[in-house]
Amino acid sequence: MIQMVDLKTQYQKIKSEIDREMQEVLDTCMFIGGPKVNRFREDLETYLGVKHVIPCANGTDALQIAMMALGLKPGDEVIVPAFTYVATAEVIGLLGLTPVMTDVDPDTMNITAKHIEAVITPKTKAIVPVHLFGQSADMDPIMALAKKHGLFVIEDNAQAIGSDYKSADGTVRKTGAIGHYGCTSFFPSKNLGCYGDGGAMMTNDDALAAKARMIANHGQSKQYYHDEIGVNSRLDAMQAVVLNAKLKHLDTYNAARGRAAAYYDRVFAQIPELKIPAREPNSTHVFHQYTLQITAPNSVELRDALKAYLQEHGVSMMIYYPVSLYKQPAFAQYWPGGEFPVTEALCASVFSLPMHSEMTEEILEKVTGAVKAFFEARG
Ligand SMILES: Cc1ncc(COP(=O)(O)O)c(C=O)c1O
Repeated sequence: MIQMVDLKTQYQKIKSEIDREMQEVLDTCMFIGGPKVNRFREDLETYLGVKHVIPCANGTDALQIAMMALGLKPGDEVIVPAFTYVATAEVIGLLGLTPVMTDVDPDTMNITAKHIEAVITPKTKAIVPVHLFGQSADMDPIMALAKKHGLFVIEDNAQAIGSDYKSADGTVRKTGAIGHYGCTSFFPSKNLGCYGDGGAMMTNDDALAAKARMIANHGQSKQYYHDEIGVNSRLDAMQAVVLNAKLKHLDTYNAARGRAAAYYDRVFAQIPELKIPAREPNSTHVFHQYTLQITAPNSVELRDALKAYLQEHGVSMMIYYPVSLYKQPAFAQYWPGGEFPVTEALCASVFSLPMHSEMTEEILEKVTGAVKAFFEARG
């Protein structure tokens, strides 16, 4: 079976470094914090070109801590795309804030300034653009809009680490290093993933960095002196070992994903029922997911049949995401009524194929061959 990700092959290539460094953690018993976490923090700051990285326990915590650190209060509104992973909006609800959803662009599947502007109210305090599937939302207009209305921007960069965004003045920045905070996840299947849970916040603002660091550590600025209610959210040394080993290869991993995507594009552009992933003009794409849309009107049935066919022929396929945020029972109270037509169409038509750093010609041939055969057999 061709899986969506192949962490085993990737591990074999960096095994000696990871095993050696893991052993060192075991020998020194420095499990939490310490030199390996510090090294990762510094190297990630350099890689992202950002002043501060604050490691934490996972990407969901990163979003939550960022919102706490910005002093958002119950009743404040936070704008999010309706087409995203649940974690983006979950923490907003958890903190008693109000997630205000918007539709997304039908091609890039990302939120845009136009969508955001339409739902800004006097209660709006922040925007969470999600760099979905591996490419940046168009950040220049989003940052300009935020500035105009005095809003905070928290980038959800869980799926796009390593992606570059080019501003109108030619400046190139890494996603996650543009907003007031960037938040990311090191979940194992992410482009930069550890072997458990991990996450981080990024910011160029010294005060915001200090605040997030304090909240992530029980709200203490000095040991046993607690200035405010915080949380316990730490990256451990074993996860830092894996991340140190992988960060050096992140650009190579992302380039391999890009080559696989180009191969997929060449084949799938020839299948009339499929729409290949559009590229954001100002962003590179690191293909956390390779996500196609079925353009035929009976997309749901066709997608179910394709999934069954691929399963039979040894190829995995996943649907990110089959149900929009506002139609999830957990978010019913935030649904303003009406529909988000693009989000609905995407939920009914998207599917993702295997994509990782270890894609080979053989895997690509097998996946594309099976998808082609399915559509050819239907005439
Ligand atoms: C867009 C998005 N936001 C947030 C998260 C949350 O990250 P984590 O699973 O590390 O909590 C994820 C990861 O699954 C994600 O894909």
